[in-house]
Amino acid sequence: MKIGVIMGGISSEREVSLRTGQQMIKHLDRSRYEVVPIVIEQRADLIAQVQQAGIDIALLALHGQYGEDGTVQGALETLGIPYTGSGVLASSLCMNKQLSKMLLKAAGMHTPAGLCWQGMDDYDPQAVERLGYPVIVKPNMGGSSIGIRLVHNEKELLPAVQEACSFLDRAILIEPYIKGTELTCSIVDGEVLPIIGIRSVHSEWFDYKAKYEAGCAEEKVIQLPPVTEQRVREAALAGYRLLQCKVYARVDMILCQDVPYVLEVNTLPGMTAGSLLPKSAAAAGMTFVQLLDRIIASSLH
Ligand code: DAL
Ligand code: MG
Repeated sequence: MKIGVIMGGISSEREVSLRTGQQMIKHLDRSRYEVVPIVIEQRADLIAQVQQAGIDIALLALHGQYGEDGTVQGALETLGIPYTGSGVLASSLCMNKQLSKMLLKAAGMHTPAGLCWQGMDDYDPQAVERLGYPVIVKPNMGGSSIGIRLVHNEKELLPAVQEACSFLDRAILIEPYIKGTELTCSIVDGEVLPIIGIRSVHSEWFDYKAKYEAGCAEEKVIQLPPVTEQRVREAALAGYRLLQCKVYARVDMILCQDVPYVLEVNTLPGMTAGSLLPKSAAAAGMTFVQLLDRIIASSLH
């Protein structure tokens, strides 16, 4: 079977995507797959490169805009080329934090209540005052914590909002900073993998540096009381199903007073050497090679 590993792209997460792609290429079983790396430099390259490669399936190592947001999935659907992971709708929905949180809330799930602004015109420091500091300001359609800031007071608010509004659709979220335990729950083929607890070592929260630089965060399988663990697993699976994810995803949460608050669902979670989903798979006894086999088989199913 000929597999095209699609990576790079033009989003702010390009570097992470290249690292995900390299890691996938390294671990694809060569006795079963012929591997073609497809590095996207410009958005318009994708279709020509994919067609030229003559692949049986696209293994998506893209993150962020034009990769994780349903656009590439739509192009591949149109070309009739199978691809790994979620489809068009789930990808676009999960990329849009405002909309995915509205659905989670409507389904009675816990997610931090916050403000949804569509751009600088909605700037209203009094509304943030009412929410209560500290708050997290984040771009609506970001990834890897790029453009996210923890804001402690009104003085820090304006620059944080300006930065977050400079991304993509200009929409942002302002959420109360929930002090709790950051957790992530990976799902592969409907199976919830061991829950990982995260503790940032160098900063107050799990920012870009903590995510991708060795030694900046502690990420290990967390032992929770059985009832809490069950609640976390159910919340992850409910979010995954509600947003119509397929094959695999990673649900990020904060656990506060035994309540799991869903922050977001990632449809193409990082698969770099230090990423959380492969770590969780390893804890479940699955090697990276087996993880890729499972993602590919499940995507073709
Ligand atoms: N957006 C990054 C790649 C993640 O969620 O892992
Ligand atoms: Mg994300």
